Amino acid sequence: MKDFLRVLKRFVPPYKRFLALNVVFNLLSAILNLFSFALIIPILNLLFKTDHTLYTFLPWHWAPMDAEFWKQLPALLKNNFFAYISELMVTQGGSFTLVMLGVFLIVMTFLKTSATYLASFFMIPLRTGVVRDIRNQINRKITQLSLSFFSEERKGDIIARISGDVNEIEASVMSSLDMFFKNPILICVYLIGMFVISWQLTLFVLVLLPVAGYLIGRVGRSLKRKSLLGQNQLGYLMSQIEETLSGLRIIKAFNAEKKIIRRFEESNETFRRTTNRIYRRQQMAHPMSEFLGTATIAVVLWYGGSLILGNSSPIDASTFIYYLVIFYSIINPAKDLTKAGYAIQKGLASMVRIDKILKAETDITSPAHPKPIRLEHEIAYRGVWFRYADDWVLRDVNLIVPKGKTVALVGQSGSGKSSLVDLLPRFYDLTKGSITIDGLDIREAALQDLRGLMGNVNQEAILFNDTFFNNIAFGVEQATQEEVERAARIANAHDFIMATEHGYQTNIGDRGGKLSGGQRQRISIARAVLKNPPILILDEATSALDTESERLVQDALERLMSGRTAIVIAHRLSTIRNADEICVMHEGQIVERGRHEELIRLGGYYKHLCDMQSF
Ligand SMILES: Nc1ncnc2c1ncn2[C@@H]1O[C@H](COP(=O)(O)OP(=O)(O)O)[C@@H](O)[C@H]1O
Ligand SMILES: [Mg+2]
Repeated sequence: MKDFLRVLKRFVPPYKRFLALNVVFNLLSAILNLFSFALIIPILNLLFKTDHTLYTFLPWHWAPMDAEFWKQLPALLKNNFFAYISELMVTQGGSFTLVMLGVFLIVMTFLKTSATYLASFFMIPLRTGVVRDIRNQINRKITQLSLSFFSEERKGDIIARISGDVNEIEASVMSSLDMFFKNPILICVYLIGMFVISWQLTLFVLVLLPVAGYLIGRVGRSLKRKSLLGQNQLGYLMSQIEETLSGLRIIKAFNAEKKIIRRFEESNETFRRTTNRIYRRQQMAHPMSEFLGTATIAVVLWYGGSLILGNSSPIDASTFIYYLVIFYSIINPAKDLTKAGYAIQKGLASMVRIDKILKAETDITSPAHPKPIRLEHEIAYRGVWFRYADDWVLRDVNLIVPKGKTVALVGQSGSGKSSLVDLLPRFYDLTKGSITIDGLDIREAALQDLRGLMGNVNQEAILFNDTFFNNIAFGVEQATQEEVERAARIANAHDFIMATEHGYQTNIGDRGGKLSGGQRQRISIARAVLKNPPILILDEATSALDTESERLVQDALERLMSGRTAIVIAHRLSTIRNADEICVMHEGQIVERGRHEELIRLGGYYKHLCDMQSF
């Protein structure tokens, strides 16, 4: 329970206002309810002709409002109400009085239900607000977390957390607010009413309640554990769907549909079995509290009834029935309380999963007092060591890239080229050594400023399901049509964009699925051109292309690189021939460096790679 209060404290405070309104109207509704039920007494008396007391109006004493006054008030109210009814009986007759009582009941009930409605009315902004805030927080956090976090997590599972787990929290926050505000108010008001009518009976009832409470609590406990299991299984399921969607082409090509279907159906079945157990347990809340409630009523009926039959009762039969009606009204909120208790357990389980994202360390962050960063002289890697997990991926790399020069990295796949360039925008942080730009360690600059210096073009062009225009203008705050067109022309993309139906406003489909590889690549080059960064990082930008589109892309890249500082990972000779320096990487080290002719003359790794054309 403490855990849950902490969750409420995290998310509810911005909505205090609504909570207060909710409480006010709940209170109002409970009190009105009490009064509307009270009409039962005169109705019953009237019908059964049991009441022979002669009521006369008593005068109201408003002052002083001391304890004595409050003690007398219920009796006074009751007396005057009954006096009014008896007068009505005498002057207008029985059936008219019944009609009046009915009208009064309708009016009271209308007021009561209005109050109930207003109470939930003010709860809705709270409910939707909490859910919105949690989703926003997760989304923010996802964009802040470093790439390494996501190599550990499955994408589909993260999606499941944003959808399923957040919904679970919505349900449980809502029921918990019921639990902490609505139902306790109702129960308290009703209990007070019961005490006023007969404290002896009420004390008797109170002894029975803790027994029922204990039984109900026991069922709830194992629910959280099971829920956590269930949500994890759902997350696994979602990640399978995600994989299926993104791998559909391969699944079909390898005739692996059956395999994928089987894998999914097995996990789905496991999930179903867990859900069965959760639901069955959860469904116990309802019948159990109903059973316990009715059992309690039976006992009260017996106890109160025997008091009345024995003529030793402090209340008459009609009042006893009113009492039972109130007591029965407690059962619903009490029932909801147990349901809420179970929902909270499920919500807590989801919170654990969400907090795995929200509370994850953002290990790559800007320093507290960032220094301005610019490139006037050089980028320098000094004694850089790096590893993802256990094995060193880079060992003692030293590399200087002077401003305006192009350095090419070549080497077999897996030799650490991509890792080397990923350290520069701090996608990962190096393990040992330093990387400086003009002498400033990149970790002393703001991430925004550092990454603002760079443009990336990778092997896989990463595009978004949006228009050409927005995909090209992705890296800048604002761009005009002319600027975007100019960038597209430089990137050799203008002509094919204009050939589409809506030109720059054409949607390119999911991840650019409607484009060819070369076209996608030219869009991502146009994006880099528009951003106009001083540093360019090209990671095998042409390796996914056929020779024809490679020529177009190569052309675009050369225009992009002119006059810029560039680190180029290349797999074709044509790209690296003109580089100012070529570094050959092997198992995380730079083993040879120099210009093309020098390295060929050297007759080492580079010559070997050239001969095999294997980079
Ligand atoms: N996200 C990652 N987590 C763990 N290991 C990785 C990750 N990315 C690459 N590696 C490993 O680091 C080594 C170098 O990979 P990489 O820098 O991508 O090489 P290259 O780009 O030269 O092909 C490889 O052994 C690869 O298995
Ligand atoms: Mg690579």
